[in-house]
Amino acid sequence: MVKTKTVFFCKECGFESAKWSGQCPSCRSWNTMTEAEVSASPKKERARAALTGSKPTSLKEISLDREDRISTGIGELDRVLGGGIVPGSMILVGGDPGIGKSTLLLQACRELSARGVSVLYISGEESLKQIRMRADRLGVFSGDLKLLCETDLTAIGDILRNEKPEAVVIDSIQTMYNEDVSGTPGSVSQVRESTAVLLQLSKSLGISVFIVGHVTKEGTVAGPRILEHMVDTVLYFEGDRHASYRILRGVKNRFGSTNEIGVFEMGEQGLSEVENPSEFLLSGRPQGASGTVTACTMEGTRPVLLEIQALVCQTSFGLPRRQASGADLNRINLLMAVLEKRLGLKLGQCDAYVNVAGGMRINEPAVDLAIAMAVVSSFLNIPVDEGIMAVGEIGLSGEVRSVSQVQQRISEAAKLGYSTCVLPKVNAEKAEKVKGIKLVAVESVRDAIALIKK
Ligand code: TYD
Ligand code: MG
Repeated sequence: MVKTKTVFFCKECGFESAKWSGQCPSCRSWNTMTEAEVSASPKKERARAALTGSKPTSLKEISLDREDRISTGIGELDRVLGGGIVPGSMILVGGDPGIGKSTLLLQACRELSARGVSVLYISGEESLKQIRMRADRLGVFSGDLKLLCETDLTAIGDILRNEKPEAVVIDSIQTMYNEDVSGTPGSVSQVRESTAVLLQLSKSLGISVFIVGHVTKEGTVAGPRILEHMVDTVLYFEGDRHASYRILRGVKNRFGSTNEIGVFEMGEQGLSEVENPSEFLLSGRPQGASGTVTACTMEGTRPVLLEIQALVCQTSFGLPRRQASGADLNRINLLMAVLEKRLGLKLGQCDAYVNVAGGMRINEPAVDLAIAMAVVSSFLNIPVDEGIMAVGEIGLSGEVRSVSQVQQRISEAAKLGYSTCVLPKVNAEKAEKVKGIKLVAVESVRDAIALIKK
């Protein structure tokens, strides 16, 4: 008799508890705790997956082949992975349904197989014909890419042990089924156990595994967040479904940095890489409008220019409305309080909407100055010179504080034809001159705002 016990999992974050509650104590979402059976005895499939007997090894004996990362052939994907796939690693690719996860991974499989890497693409969602149709849209597949439509993990385990491919794609984890555990595919217990089996297979056979996980706001399917702690690398694929660009963001990476992003554009023939995201994000910038300023944020090692938009108008109700998309609302409230106190602007009676154009999310204080300038420009209804790019962190007394990696930001602005870079005085003293761009040093927000009124 297999002993079973019942526990409750949160569908959003995977929090485990012995008793049910209406609100998850960990992520505070409501009605997400679901009952799941877990058997107390070790899982058959998982035990089978652990092929190698474990024994202690001395640190010196472990061979170091660090440099044998496998390049996926897609530069932006390699960048987010930290330079390619580490053999034997597990990579979770999360994202909303329909955002392009299957497309991205099929393209990665195409490039990998063209380089002679043996790849197996396992789909639990689409039939072989449907995958073929997608592949035809993507273009020529020169390598030998193996496909499999299967949802039973026992069968998948056997195939992996026989074929021993170098890389495997599981599309998606929410369709996988393991007969050792109760629950329908997509339930918390199935998703967790399936991942555990795949983890064992990946580590014992040295296979790199990509797992696709659909992000679900509501519904009966467990989201990929409950797997984040089990895998080596977590990537999220995001973007507006109705716009063509997509951003691949690293959230966790045991083998690289997590602040790199990859930018793609979805077209008729699948995803193409966007090598210069700044140009892309700034396209469609309004001419001669008030309330728009260009800022520069660092995404990992790469400077990215983006447009900050602000709309400030008289409030028609008692309580002013403040809204932010792509930026932190608390930070905007703070900046507006600084502007009110230090410059005497009557912003307390104004609604304010701040938007980062292009759907980027920023949380770097270096964009403070651009946000402040955009807010004041909209408030005064005076456009900021379009050739200005502004960086700087704003302190509570209205001082403009230094930012990091300023030289790269200046170069990026110069490359895109900006004529002026507004930057903190401390940075300006050390910065080297770049041809074609004028550096304007500011010590306080007052100095920066004076540039608008001029
Ligand atoms: P898909 O990769 O199936 O999304 P996911 O696996 O994340 O659910 O992407 C499907 C969307 O991408 C669909 O709306 C159609 C679009 N698409 C293109 O615009 N061009 C293409 O070449 C392909 C293959 C898909
Ligand atoms: Mg898909």
